Amino acid sequence: MSRAPSAPLRIALAGCGHVGGSLLDLLTQRRLAAAPGPDVQVQRVLVRHAALARPALERAVHAGLAATTALTADVGALLDDDIDVLVEVIGGTTTARTLVETALARGVRVVTANKALLGERGAALQALAAIGNTRLDFEGAVCGAVPVVRCVRAGAAGVGITRVSGILNGTSNYVLERVARGESLAEAVAAAQQLGYAEADPTRDLNGQDAEDKLRILAWLAFGVPPDSLSVTRRGIDAESAAWAARVAAEGDRVKLLATVAREEGALVARILPTRVHGTDPWAQVAGPRNRIVVESDSAGALVFEGAGAGGLATAGAVLSDVLAGAGG
Ligand code: HSE
Repeated sequence: MSRAPSAPLRIALAGCGHVGGSLLDLLTQRRLAAAPGPDVQVQRVLVRHAALARPALERAVHAGLAATTALTADVGALLDDDIDVLVEVIGGTTTARTLVETALARGVRVVTANKALLGERGAALQALAAIGNTRLDFEGAVCGAVPVVRCVRAGAAGVGITRVSGILNGTSNYVLERVARGESLAEAVAAAQQLGYAEADPTRDLNGQDAEDKLRILAWLAFGVPPDSLSVTRRGIDAESAAWAARVAAEGDRVKLLATVAREEGALVARILPTRVHGTDPWAQVAGPRNRIVVESDSAGALVFEGAGAGGLATAGAVLSDVLAGAGG
């Protein structure tokens, strides 16, 4: 099924939470501003509870981006024949997996922000995309607005990447910052949830699982290892490490949740650990929900990426960049 270059790009959107709603708002603004690039039409929007108010969808309908009938709670109805791109932002590895696999098998392009799904099945999904002669893009899955997937994916071949390190989770970074200022762990986590940085279940942010998913994806792109095959040593943020972070801050330094994957004596070694850094170290300067990634290679030395790592709008911008970049015009 191919689309004429002048025809609108038809999207099926799975999920209308922080990221999906922000994506609709970005598309609506783009439509109202008559922005250059392909015209986009949102054919269907899959939600769990169709009766809830969806202000972003209402704005999209008002702007002519989506029809009033676009909303559905029927998973089976999402991928109809008139779809060019599935945008998957529901998260999780059950319904999301079914939708992504079905779309790729049908040759429908997929854009996803689902790090858990990619961390678990990225290589298999990429193989499915190749068989379906289509694309699987996932800039929004790793570090929000920071375009590190695109850069590492396109640039890894031949540059000899030796090490990738990063602050890969905005929620835990934000929480550590507030704990360093004297707040309790529970208060800090509640604030991160309020701001839309945390996952629906913030456990994954705090225990380092979210950062691990992203590290698996980065290791896959940088070193070619299937994401599910990487062995990762991990410790997250708990009451003990939060108390340590507060003590360290009182001494002028910082505790950061640092993730690294590097070649050491021929093997890939991956770790996610709360780490003490000097107060003037660049890692200590990474504030709030921001992420920082350093990619080291033989040819280029250290390349540094930094920016908004969490939040609906930051992630939606990355998703939109994939949607438009893959549209070929
Ligand atoms: N919960 C994630 C974070 C969102 O805090 O980084 C972006 O992946």
